[in-house]
Amino acid sequence: MNFIDLKSQYQHLKADIDARIHAVLDHGQYIMGPEVAELEAQLAAYVGVKHAIGVSDGTTALQIALMAIGIQPGDEVITTPFTFIATGEMIALLGAKPVFVDIDPATYNLDPNLIEAAITPKTRAIMPVSLYGQCADFDTINAIAAKHNLAVIEDGAQSFGATYKGRKSGALSTIGSTSFFPSKPLGCYGDGGALFTDDDELAKTIRQIRSHGQDRRYHHPIIGLNGRLDTLQAAVLLAKLPSFADEVAARERIGARYSELLKDVARVPALAEGCNSVYAQYTIEIDGREAVQAALKEQGVPTAVHYPVPLNLQPAFAHLNQPVGSFPHAEAAARRVMSLPMHPFLDEATQDQVVAAVKQALA
Ligand SMILES: Cc1ncc(COP(=O)(O)O)c(C=O)c1O
Repeated sequence: MNFIDLKSQYQHLKADIDARIHAVLDHGQYIMGPEVAELEAQLAAYVGVKHAIGVSDGTTALQIALMAIGIQPGDEVITTPFTFIATGEMIALLGAKPVFVDIDPATYNLDPNLIEAAITPKTRAIMPVSLYGQCADFDTINAIAAKHNLAVIEDGAQSFGATYKGRKSGALSTIGSTSFFPSKPLGCYGDGGALFTDDDELAKTIRQIRSHGQDRRYHHPIIGLNGRLDTLQAAVLLAKLPSFADEVAARERIGARYSELLKDVARVPALAEGCNSVYAQYTIEIDGREAVQAALKEQGVPTAVHYPVPLNLQPAFAHLNQPVGSFPHAEAAARRVMSLPMHPFLDEATQDQVVAAVKQALA
């Protein structure tokens, strides 16, 4: 059994993916070939923003977004401790300070009620993560940001395709960011990512930073980096995008079926009002996780933990002095969450096998 099944998806889309890849091999424009702009136009239309900018990966996407809004050493950026390291890491890489705020235990996303208490004169931005494929509470977060004149960057690495009150992840804040890492809801065949914004000036700055800060070849008004999306990865994404809506529908159906079948034995994901989830991870909460994982492994059911250590307890952030107990909800989730096999090609028989194994392990 696969935790994520990329082979079935490839078999399903093989003709289109192969044709798109071969078109790149034929024209040979591997860096910023025409597929990149073609993909950006399609991504902007899908997300519902003026500008989509393809970048090299979801981590660099966050770095570029933070650079584009002018984050400097000493600035503070409010974010969640219950996320993949990249979120806090890119804030720290720029010399800024990640200011962690605990999660809402119902959704695992940043608790907006705790944000205002964390704002200081040094705060420049809020960077919520739309964890597991469900958007954070952007209306409330944006209202707080507007009141305090802060930018909002969505780390939507796990939520591409998700909807919040009728709007798409990526279109909910000053800048939206995503990852096309192969296992993400929309994945390419290597590293990839994108940024989204309605702001013309920010889009221009993001494009410059992506290409060494240049406005034209060998002219560099600002400092940037090499953060371009590969043409070959853009080609793969162009082949996958037409069936993405069907895959999102399948993810929602499979996630809902898991929840129906497991709700009596484990804590299943809760969807906030106006939100769906693309279930980048289908994650439940249980007691005795290690034993349950071992029992499932015995039954041939792979599991994973997203994430076992909150960022405040990572050695890389030890200097922030936020010991155990600083973020009770994030820390409890880190001890209890477990993700089950999830992909759009998961059939009911296999899902029943997972459910039976979970029930047996918890009995
Ligand atoms: C929440 C979150 N942020 C950022 C990233 C980084 O994306 P990438 O692996 O494409 O650099 C990931 C990917 O794992 C993620 O899950």
